[in-house]
Amino acid sequence: MNIVGSGAIGGLCAAGAQRANLPYRAIVREHSNKLRFVEGLDGTITHLDYAEHDIAKLGEHDVLILPLKAFQIGDALQQWQKRINKATPVILFHNGMGGTELATTWLPDNPVFLATTSHGALKLNADTVKHTGMGSTMLGMAFSHPLAEKLQPVVTALMEACIGPVTWREDMQTALWQKLLINCAINPLTALENVKNGALANPQYRATIQLVCQEVCLTAQACGVQLDEENALEQVLTVVRNTAENYSSMHQDIAHRRPSEIDAINGYVVQQAQKKGIDVPVNTRLFLAIKAL
Ligand code: PAF
Repeated sequence: MNIVGSGAIGGLCAAGAQRANLPYRAIVREHSNKLRFVEGLDGTITHLDYAEHDIAKLGEHDVLILPLKAFQIGDALQQWQKRINKATPVILFHNGMGGTELATTWLPDNPVFLATTSHGALKLNADTVKHTGMGSTMLGMAFSHPLAEKLQPVVTALMEACIGPVTWREDMQTALWQKLLINCAINPLTALENVKNGALANPQYRATIQLVCQEVCLTAQACGVQLDEENALEQVLTVVRNTAENYSSMHQDIAHRRPSEIDAINGYVVQQAQKKGIDVPVNTRLFLAIKAL
């Protein structure tokens, strides 16, 4: 198993693999630091192992996991395309939407999986990640593939060890919209207000979160995906409570003056809503406010 990048979710995956004694290779992207330590929810520290030399090409028994930012996926797929076999399973693991389209463009022949998680994880510094909140991971195919049936149990078991519990989703697009709803509500607000996720439980944010939920549900419905609008607010608040001590990934990106995933999160909703002729004023306001920073 090959885990690319030194982000917080990649760190959780590598630590999970190491604790389960699964062979893995942590691959650092160019100009990035190596992650060294992952602090678990119980405070245990896992020291990550690094392969000393890089691999030339991955085969069909290797799995490639790309837990990267949404805007890094296109470049990563373009680069990895030349270094993998057509049968190598690839797992795209990012916030926001766009993975299916990129996989269709760059890896149309490979079995490509999509993963999304509600675990909270935070990079404390360049070499340390802390697991800050229990969550779960959804896994499904980006598009149908002849190897899907054979690979599903293998890839599910790997991901279960890395970042479980894992639910296999035949309706992965619905799972992605469910996670999009959570990111649309939590990420820009925590970044703009400069607060931890837990602060969003405060009643002062309730109306905004409620409106974000309504707009995302309406847009999803217009795109052919049925979200549970009645429970949408409660789903967001559950993640807020479970990851109360986390700074969201967008909070961290903005705080460290890095590019954020806003285009793939609220930006995606605004774009889809425009196509369908739906007004999404609150998502638009949050999108523009983050863009203006
Ligand atoms: O982007 C994030 O930070 C995470 O997806 C989540 C679940 C909102 C927790 O912080």
